[in-house]
Amino acid sequence: MLPRVAMPSETRRPLPRSRILGTGHYLSPIVRTNADLEKIVDTSDAWISARTGIRARHIAADGTVTSDMAASAAKAALEMAGLAAKDLDMIVVGTVTPDMPMPATAAFVQQKIGARACPAFDLSAACAGFIFGLSIADQFIASGQMRHVLVIGVELLSRVVDWTDRSTCVLFGDGAGAAVLGPSGASASAPKPRGILSISTHTDGSLAGALSIPAGGSATPTSHATVDQRLQYVHMKGQDVFKAAVKNLLSTSLQSLAQAGLSKSDVDWVCPHQANKRIIDQVVARVEIPPEKVLMNIEHVGNTSSASIPILLDATLRAGKVKEGETVLMCALGAGISWGSAIVRM
Ligand code: ACO
Repeated sequence: MLPRVAMPSETRRPLPRSRILGTGHYLSPIVRTNADLEKIVDTSDAWISARTGIRARHIAADGTVTSDMAASAAKAALEMAGLAAKDLDMIVVGTVTPDMPMPATAAFVQQKIGARACPAFDLSAACAGFIFGLSIADQFIASGQMRHVLVIGVELLSRVVDWTDRSTCVLFGDGAGAAVLGPSGASASAPKPRGILSISTHTDGSLAGALSIPAGGSATPTSHATVDQRLQYVHMKGQDVFKAAVKNLLSTSLQSLAQAGLSKSDVDWVCPHQANKRIIDQVVARVEIPPEKVLMNIEHVGNTSSASIPILLDATLRAGKVKEGETVLMCALGAGISWGSAIVRM
């Protein structure tokens, strides 16, 4: 399907308004391999790696909470940016696994990193949470209302996964990734200004039932009955999500390229959400970007939902694989279903 016609607010911008100043990530040292899962549910390393590309995932230690991981990633991002926590004007946390339903995990993060009083809130866009967060940060920086915005994608999915359900428990891992954004400072004379060149975000609520944690909200408050039915855990219609992912990640990637005025050959790296290697392979083949330009860590990190893109981006930046001035296409889809993409010149 071709991308829909760009709305006025999405038309091509001559210069990027914000850029990523620093990134960071946190992964627990505790690793659960497919062999470990073979002892818990009726599965096999062969099935998991063939169907998903996953061989291991990181699991948060007992006592670690979502905001702890987020704070670790945030501190690393601030350090790379050369900024202090008190320099932040806003904190946005994309998560579907908050410390608790209220208050926002972002409030705990603010306190743990020592930031001053500033707007700090969570957003729920599941695996697309980091892209949605980038979009918010970009808008606030472009408007001049904020100078430095911290965007975090963080998930502690091991606490909301049903470890008796082989169709979901093999997929997910825990982790956090963060980025600090600030004004791009791009000048019209720069041939290739650094910054966010385009972003598109979308939600199709008609597929809301395809991926959910059914209990614990106003629709189905937690009760003994909901716990007996295991409704506090992730429930997913995997094949519905798979088909939606391939279709929508393709269209949003083409849309972001068009909005940035770039072609596929301008992309140095694709940094896709790490949900399933087969989804990534199909999308990249259809966008016609060579596989060697695709960043991947799903094999040892699994699906960390909103954390997946910033973890991968930070790791590849720190390894020197992704370099300053290179153009990165990010794309993600998750519960909602919500999806989006961004083109960022690092
Ligand atoms: N081990 C062994 N067998 C399994 C396992 C397992 N872990 N899980 C399922 N099976 C079996 C099923 O029971 C089924 O058996 P049957 O044919 O006897 O009934 C068979 O394997 C095929 O099951 P499918 O569900 O059809 O397998 P599929 O190839 O679709 O793979 C998967 C499942 C990996 C979940 C895939 O559908 C997928 O990746 N979906 C997208 C996931 C995703 O992107 N989620 C979005 C992000 S998550 C977020 O937003 C928080």
